[in-house]
Parts: sequence; structure tokens; C-alpha cells
Amino acid sequence: MHMSFTASKDVPADAAVHAVPVFPGLVVPEGGVEVDTAHLPPVGFEGKPGQSHALLADDGGTVVVVGLGDPATLTAETFRKAGAAVTKAAWRSPSVAVALAESGGEAVDRVAAARALAEGMGLAAYRFDTYKSNGKPCAIEQVTVVGGGGARLQAALDKAAVVVEAVCLARDLVNEPAAAMTPTRLAERAREVAKAGGLGVRVLGADELRAEGMGALLGVAQGSDEPPCFIELTYEPDGRPRGHLALVGKGITFDSGGLSIKTADGMTTMKTDMGGGAAVIAAMGALRRLGVRARVTAYVPATENMPSGRAVKPGDVLRARNGTTIEVLNTDAEGRLVLADALSVAVEQQPDAIVDIATLTGAQVVALGKKIAGLMGNDEGLVTQVQAAADRAGEPVWPLPLPDDYRSHIDSEIADIKNMGNPGQAGTLIAGLFLKEFVGDVPWAHLDIAGPARADSDDAYTPKGGSGFGVRMLVELAAGFERPGRRR
Ligand code: BES
Ligand code: MN
Ligand code: ZN
Repeated sequence: MHMSFTASKDVPADAAVHAVPVFPGLVVPEGGVEVDTAHLPPVGFEGKPGQSHALLADDGGTVVVVGLGDPATLTAETFRKAGAAVTKAAWRSPSVAVALAESGGEAVDRVAAARALAEGMGLAAYRFDTYKSNGKPCAIEQVTVVGGGGARLQAALDKAAVVVEAVCLARDLVNEPAAAMTPTRLAERAREVAKAGGLGVRVLGADELRAEGMGALLGVAQGSDEPPCFIELTYEPDGRPRGHLALVGKGITFDSGGLSIKTADGMTTMKTDMGGGAAVIAAMGALRRLGVRARVTAYVPATENMPSGRAVKPGDVLRARNGTTIEVLNTDAEGRLVLADALSVAVEQQPDAIVDIATLTGAQVVALGKKIAGLMGNDEGLVTQVQAAADRAGEPVWPLPLPDDYRSHIDSEIADIKNMGNPGQAGTLIAGLFLKEFVGDVPWAHLDIAGPARADSDDAYTPKGGSGFGVRMLVELAAGFERPGRRR
């Protein structure tokens, strides 16, 4: 499965499927290719977003009309969904032509529409077939976007291809079973990404973690037979960097809960608990090919969270890298522990901003569900910047508060702080307040992706399983990065 996208004025001779996005009533967007309606059944196709209908053309080829819905509500997301519908309809055809319409009007210009369409097509073609005896991979290799060539159009398609590859890499990392995607293996994959993406890479092992005082990460790791590690990736742009952005991703390759063990049900999807780390690693790999001008450094603390005779016990106290002591009252609140060390390390480099991304709390899923991430932070400008990047990328996030008033919930009887608040109360915010203790006064934003990191069922361009959520917004954030202004 590797799809390449070419902008062209002509339909290539080998394109067995010709897709045409249309509005309801088969109205072809302005500048689009007319559809031969002779073979269309009178009912059934309404042109709703994502709806598709295949027609046999006179030349023996197949025309697939794809609905765009109401022209008044057209967004880039409409084109991503239309792209997904094209991929599903043309699954077995190696060469596909897609008519690009003028269409978007003011909301979506032609170039943005093409990029979104290509993203939707590429993302919908993803399958994790590694362990399937009879996988049915998508056969589409060549997509020709018809409707005028042009360097700007081709550049947009090239960007889409890079983003698709990055998202699919993150999905692969998440979908691998925990037995295959151990911290060590994740680090190996990060090295490969670094090599291919022109990044610096450094991996600290257990001994170095001890030497560096990463007591919180080590505390989580001590119950596991798999050695932990700390993955650092560095992107140096050509020319003078436009700011320095640090990314931190939670890399729990399996979360059993530790001694505060999860239920059997609660554990089934916990290989996903490195979804934040996967998003960070995959996004980093795309930066050079996208010509990002900011300097970007990334930190992924990686370990399993397991119960054993050596595991951290409720009531134990850990010392994080920045000296803060943490009473561990629930060993299942391990994400904030490993992030404590990673954020401390990130702060030492004094970046202009830190953004972390983590499958951090079940409460996030309760509050916002499976499709919307929670966004928090200590700097309004940065939070707004992350929100805007997520909006542009088409990944839904919603702002949540970090109330000073709740800070006392993590006061500990014997240590500086404890790793949980009052059960059943604002779990996502408490986790955010905990992380805030480790970012000093560096502008920081926190994304809780506990819900969106995994799709429960197939959806437009996101198949069931690891979603790669976060990759698109992180890439978009890095590409448009501006140093946040002075803090309040
Ligand atoms: N990895 C989980 C959060 C999670 C839950 C992600 C469900 C995806 C789906 C995290 O480590 C965790 O267990 N959090 C606890 C914290 C609590 C013990 C304070 C939670 O949210 O229940
Ligand atoms: Mn946990
Ligand atoms: Zn976890």
C-alpha cells in the first residue's frame, strides 16, 4: 500500500476508475467534469457527504460519483470524507483519476480541497494486515487529480502524501501488539524514523535514566521485565530556526495498571497507551520533507506498566527529575509519572513552547468521547495556537480549564504531591494540574487523547484500531509555529 498523487490536466489511459465529486442532484461543482447521467438510477444517490455510487461508463470504465453534501457547509473535512469514499469504491483499481472541482468557493480553495481529498484517500486505504493470513490491501497506487496541473497543486498533493505516511506510521506503531512494540522496539523504530527523516536521535537506557535522576519513569518501569528507555529526537531546520518547539509523548507500551490493576476489559486496548509517543515520533519524521522552519525536539518516555514483586506500590514515593517528590497512591496513574520526568527534561532546554500528548485519563473519554481530545495549558497564546493547528488539520480538540482551586487535590500527606485527586472528580483536569508542576514557566499545552487515539469502529478515513490522532495537528503546529508572546 503506497499511494502516489499526481496533478494533471488529463485522465491517464490506465485509470479504470474515474471519481467525480458532486453536490446533491448531481450538480457538478463549478469547473468540474460533467457526469454522464445516462446510467444513473433515478433514486438512491442523493449526493450526501461521503456517499458514493458507481456507474458503468460507455467506454467500459467505471465512474464513481461521490457526494459532497450541501455546498453551503463545505469544509476541508468534506473533501477528506469524499476522498475516503473514493478509496473504498475504487479499492481494487491500481490507477484512479479524480476530478478536481473549483468548488470550495470561499471556505475551501482548490488547492486545499485537493490536499484534503488526497489525505482522505490515503488515510482510508490503511489496513493493519501484518498478522492476517488473508489481508485484502488496497490496490490503489496511482491517483491522478485531474483539473489542471500546476506546481502549487502538486506541492499540496506531495504534502498530503507525507502526512498520510506519518499518520499511517503512528497507526502501525499503535496497532502492533505490546509484545512486539516494547520500549526497546519503539526506540528502534524511532531510530529508523530519524534516519529516514534527517533527525538527531538519542536513546537513554535504564542505567542512564538512573544517572539522570528520572526516578518517576524508573518507578513505573520497575515492575516490568522489559527495560524502559527515554527517546529523544531532534529536528534542526535549514537556515535560522523560527522558534523552538518541544514535543512530549506518553510512551506506555502496555498499561496493565500495575498493582492498582485494571479490569480484564479495561486492559484489552492498553497497547494503545503509547499513542501519544507514536504521534510525536511519526510527526517528527515528516518535518524535513514538509520544510518546517522551527527547531523541534521530541521526548518519549517509554516503559510498560506491570505488576510484579518489584513493582512500585501504592504509598511509595518517587523523586522526579526536577526534584519533586511524588506519592504514588494509584499505580494506574502512571502516565503523569513518566511525563513528569520527560517534561522536566524538556524544560531544561528552555524551548519557546512545550506541547505534550498523552492517552492520559479515562475521564477524558467520559467528558469528550472518542472523537474529541482535551486541550489544556498554562499559556493562552499557545493553547490558541494548538487549537488553530488542530482546526486546520481537521482533528477535533476542545479546551478544558486547569483551575488553581483544584490544585489542593494533589497535596500529599508525606511528599510534595500525590499522583491522584479525589476519585470521580475532574480526573482530566487533575492530571493536567499534575503535569503543570513540571513545566516551570515555559509556555505549555497538554493534549489528552485517551479517547481519540483508538477508533472503536471503522469511520470515514479512520479504520478501527490505532487512529494516528494528533499527528496531523502536531505537523501543522510545527509548520506554522510562532513563539508564544509574553505570558499573563
Ligand atoms: N492509560 C490510562 C488512561 C486511559 C483510560 C486511556 C482509558 C484510554 C482509555 C491511564 O494510565 C490511567 O489508567 N488513568 C487512570 C488514572 C486514575 C487512576 C487517577 C484513569 O483515568 O482511570
Ligand atoms: Mn494507567
Ligand atoms: Zn496509561
